[in-house]
Amino acid sequence: MDRIRIRGGRPLAGEIVIGGAKNAALPLMAAGLLTDERLLLSNVPRLADIQTMTALLQQHGIAVDPADNDGRTLSIGGAIGSTEAPYDIVRKMRASVLVLGPLLARVRAARVSLPGGCSIGTRPVDLHLKGLEQMGAQIDLQGGYIDARVEGRLRGATILFPFISVGATENLLMAAALADGRTVLANAAREPEIGDLATCLVAMGARIEGIGTDRLIIDGVEALHGAHHSIIPDRIETGTYACAAAISGGSVFLRHAQLEHLGATMRILREAGVDVTQEADGLMVRRLNGLHGVDVMTEPYPGFPTDMQAQFMALMSVAEGAAMVTETIFENRFMHVPELNRMGARINVHGASAIVRGVPTLSGAPVMATDLRASVSLILAGLAARGETVVNRVYHLDRGYEAVEQKLAACGAEIERLPS
Ligand code: EPZ
Repeated sequence: MDRIRIRGGRPLAGEIVIGGAKNAALPLMAAGLLTDERLLLSNVPRLADIQTMTALLQQHGIAVDPADNDGRTLSIGGAIGSTEAPYDIVRKMRASVLVLGPLLARVRAARVSLPGGCSIGTRPVDLHLKGLEQMGAQIDLQGGYIDARVEGRLRGATILFPFISVGATENLLMAAALADGRTVLANAAREPEIGDLATCLVAMGARIEGIGTDRLIIDGVEALHGAHHSIIPDRIETGTYACAAAISGGSVFLRHAQLEHLGATMRILREAGVDVTQEADGLMVRRLNGLHGVDVMTEPYPGFPTDMQAQFMALMSVAEGAAMVTETIFENRFMHVPELNRMGARINVHGASAIVRGVPTLSGAPVMATDLRASVSLILAGLAARGETVVNRVYHLDRGYEAVEQKLAACGAEIERLPS
């Protein structure tokens, strides 16, 4: 397994290009199942998860072809052959469950492996299934698989989510686009990635109102056609590299980053002492003086994102004062804490909250990545730490961050990948 070695203490300076949003690209690729015409997606990030979704679509019989020479534009389309999403693919990437709604809407049947849990939580899909049942689907769970089918077309329904779910909102939004009649998704998630998906579906001929709000109204159509859609920049990658600039005491220009997608992230970073200014085609991020502890609670968008929690905790570990970090979305998303503490951080976990008492500096150490965002928080800590940090199991990192060591090295970080 590859490892990444960092020698800390060098302020970052330079420019980092922000790629397309992973969590927009994955549902958008699944939307390619909704038409046999070609869906052209540009600004696709080159990530392991994109390769996994590509393999999943191809085993459904869908062609996924690079439409440019750097692999950032994909042409997706074709007739659906297999309606099965097998366990060996789904277990690698939970977002595979996003093929369920499109398959049911398009060919009225789907056999999708239950995703199972992952290291950050049990992550059930009951809201996805209940919503599809309300739209007329027959859902049976057997042998670890979701067996779903519907007689005729899915029917529009009014679905009130008991709590906010990004994936359930996306699955049902895609299913509703081809359903017979009107679907209302109430208490829908409002993440920018959902707005991006809805915008693409409208370009494909879907009829959707309320984009960007928590109430989506979809009037189903008989068929959707092809379209060309450019994926929004990745707001979590943006927040991650903003933390990298701040923790290293440097200044970095994040090209293509969009302030309006960052919700509470930028407010919290500014409160912590990070200077963020919107410029023509990106954000200038710099740390002017010391960092100070700021309390955060993760919430659905536009609140502070759970996908930024580990990165922010690394930043707070070297801030003046203390910060209370409360995780309200997932039940086990503090696995970076013991690793950060091995680097000299002073973090105590009490249930869903962690108190971070800032220390003047961290010290490099060998550490273990456990999930995507935890692994990048260890990279951030390594940038600030005295001495050498080696992050093991960086395959977690490669799922969601393209060329992280190249992007940081180009800004002066002493970082390199040690092949296994
Ligand atoms: C999406 O996961 C993201 N993944 C996650 O990013 C992100 O952390 C999460 O949304 C929250 O913002 C993608 O977009 C591919 P949820 P998703 O449904 O859709 C519970 C990353 O690092 N729940 O909003 O799976 C669930 O267990 C990843 O890029 C149910 O109980 O998240 C969780 O506690 C990690 N039943 C909470 O709701 C359901 O049917 C929010 O989950 C669905 C969800």
